[in-house]
Amino acid sequence: MPATPANLVVQPLDRRPDLAENLSKLPELWPEFVQQDPISNFYYVTAVRDFPEHVLVGYDEDDPEVPVARAYTVPFQFGGEGRTVLPSDGWDAVIRWGALDRSLGRTPNLVSALEISIRPDRRGGGLAAVLLAAMRGNVRRLGFDTLVAPVRPTGKPAEPTTPMHEYARRTRPDGLPVDPWLRVHVRAGGEIVGVCPRAMVIAGTLAEWRAWTGLAFDETGVVEVPDALVPVHCSVEHDYAVYVEPGVWVRHDLSS
Ligand SMILES: CC(C)(COP(=O)(O)OP(=O)(O)OC[C@H]1O[C@@H](n2cnc3c(N)ncnc32)[C@H](O)[C@@H]1OP(=O)(O)O)[C@@H](O)C(=O)NCCC(=O)NCCS
Repeated sequence: MPATPANLVVQPLDRRPDLAENLSKLPELWPEFVQQDPISNFYYVTAVRDFPEHVLVGYDEDDPEVPVARAYTVPFQFGGEGRTVLPSDGWDAVIRWGALDRSLGRTPNLVSALEISIRPDRRGGGLAAVLLAAMRGNVRRLGFDTLVAPVRPTGKPAEPTTPMHEYARRTRPDGLPVDPWLRVHVRAGGEIVGVCPRAMVIAGTLAEWRAWTGLAFDETGVVEVPDALVPVHCSVEHDYAVYVEPGVWVRHDLSS
């Protein structure tokens, strides 16, 4: 039976290490250009080895061999020098902080969400809230009382020129965010606490951008790329283009 909110099982890899190899059975879940963030690549290669308790796999309860979804978080120390506010380089910063703290043996006191992804053929069935609830529960299980998330709003690619601080503030008459993914976070108990204007930075030569997107990249200026949250800045004279992806900081208080 296909996964429904009622029969989706979500397990962390420290409890079910046997599920690790199933992660590779998921189809590629992100557009090519999004996979070019050098910091992300650093995290994904080491996550299963270094942070298995922060990697979640979702599957139909009667078919553990076939993954339906995955989710990742990263723990780090917050509150010391240079770390008193949630960083403007959201996603990239928390991955760097997590890796640095692990290598220095520092005890983490905060966890950031990095990703929740559902297989394309299973989207739109209400699984997102189940994954987020499982992530919140897992972070609590690991002894943390707060989860933060540099959220990538799923409706934003439809409005690449709208500033993120304006987009993130938009609410429906019932008070919940207009953006579907922010809405899932807020309904789960998250609070929007800010914007991280440079959550992820992806730079490449024009040849690289052409290969990643199939677009021409033959004029200096801004280029709208499908699935990008904001336009990409292109310089023909200098042979590079750069994408600075903003995110929305959401804070989940898990103490109650
Ligand atoms: C983001 C993601 C996890 C959401 O999962 P999903 O299965 O599509 O979402 P759900 O069916 O649980 O629905 C969640 C909300 O989005 C809405 N929604 C779902 N599909 C939608 C669509 N195509 N257009 C607009 N809204 C949509 C639902 O109505 C629901 O809102 P509601 O509860 O207020 O009605 C999934 O789309 C995904 O994996 N996307 C790619 C990876 C990604 O962007 N992850 C998030 C950043 S880490």
